[in-house]
Amino acid sequence: MSPEEFRRMGHLVVDWLADYQLHPERFPVLSRVKPGEITDALPASGPRQGEAMEGILRDFEQTIVPGLTHWNHPGFMAYFANTASGPGVLGEMLAAGLNANGILWKTSPALTELEQVTLSWLRQWMGLPETFFGIIHDTASIGVMHAIAAARVYACPTGRMTGEWPRLTIYCSEQAHSSVEKGAIALGIGQRNVRKIAVDDKFQMIAPALAASIEKDLASGHKPFCVVATVGTTSTTSIDPVPEIADISERHNMWLHVDCAYAGSAAVSPKYRHFLTGAERAQSLIVNPHKWLFTPVDLSVLYTSRPDILRQTFSLIPEYLRSRQDPRALNYMEYGVPLGRRFRALKLWFIMRYYGRDAIAHMIEEHIRWAQELAVAIAADPDFEICAPARMSVVCFRKKAADKENEAIVERVNATGEIYLSHTMLHDRYVIRIAIGNMGTTRDHVFRAWELVRHGA
Ligand SMILES: Cc1ncc(COP(=O)(O)O)c(C=O)c1O
Repeated sequence: MSPEEFRRMGHLVVDWLADYQLHPERFPVLSRVKPGEITDALPASGPRQGEAMEGILRDFEQTIVPGLTHWNHPGFMAYFANTASGPGVLGEMLAAGLNANGILWKTSPALTELEQVTLSWLRQWMGLPETFFGIIHDTASIGVMHAIAAARVYACPTGRMTGEWPRLTIYCSEQAHSSVEKGAIALGIGQRNVRKIAVDDKFQMIAPALAASIEKDLASGHKPFCVVATVGTTSTTSIDPVPEIADISERHNMWLHVDCAYAGSAAVSPKYRHFLTGAERAQSLIVNPHKWLFTPVDLSVLYTSRPDILRQTFSLIPEYLRSRQDPRALNYMEYGVPLGRRFRALKLWFIMRYYGRDAIAHMIEEHIRWAQELAVAIAADPDFEICAPARMSVVCFRKKAADKENEAIVERVNATGEIYLSHTMLHDRYVIRIAIGNMGTTRDHVFRAWELVRHGA
């Protein structure tokens, strides 16, 4: 592709994206295609001869776009909503165009140093201690696997070399994200050695139950090595009692990981910094700017107060990657499995600079305010009930009716193409979730969702 053709087609693509941003409601939020429909619409084999970009873009619009669920749609209120904000998209475009690969500091000094700088800014915005070292991963699921691997080496430093470990056990609440269990599976710790601690009526880990579970494991010859506390659980956004959990993990010299993949962004607002009380005592913590910090997927941040242990876990320098040592030249490859490193920090830097902390905090505060207003409205309706405290931007509720009826309500709302909702199970009952988090969502969209739910009911 000649630079001239690239320029011409690039303008077309930017125009397409600008129109997409201008009319996000042009498309149904939830894709209506049937399984296999996109595959069947595409040739079974790739072309032998190259094709003109115009035709490729036409097929993109006609065949691919209908198969998309629009995470940028203001009616996206399923799972945890997110946003490809303008500055984030521009940063992503530049990162793709530059194609820098930060395998070592010297293979793109700015890539490594901007990652250090933006993660230091974010750390300050969240009120985390200066001792926290940050590294970007694609997802929280990969980040937590790295945290668990470091926790294991902290508990048993020889295991990295010998592959021999004591009978390790790891703890999280029964509301923790499945990525904790997946990390334990991937690392060979064993799914049954993940202890899922009971929660209270607010879906928060019961700290004495954690202490009892650890004692029981110790008595039976296990080696409790890691506790994962969640601030902002996936189903209900509940907050585990981190200070009490930290007391317990410190007593047993265990690694404490705080999963605030979604809720960590709320700490950017001084009003909600208290969500992270106790997190400063963690050995590691994850926050996902690609959830509630208006950053296009993917960008997840793993912080650790023990970069020495993370490095001890993963550092391996073959001759072909040896470079001159300099205390200011960080080689991120020593702190995790990946060698290749995308320039993800660029989009985060664009976003942080373009909006600034106050505007970001304000948007998050508004999301929480609307969720709380919505919770009040739902609680006032005698046909519905709130199923978990709405402390952040998610409201969990159900119609006082059979699960099937609640499921049908969600299906009816989603069929409108205006709003997309998802569900969870709490106390074995089907619960509807409205999750606010997209930058384009307004209070009107939130209350339209509620109107559609009532209509669906
Ligand atoms: C609390 C929590 N932790 C971790 C994850 C996993 O995030 P990722 O998709 O980045 O792996 C999620 C995803 O929703 C989550 O809600």
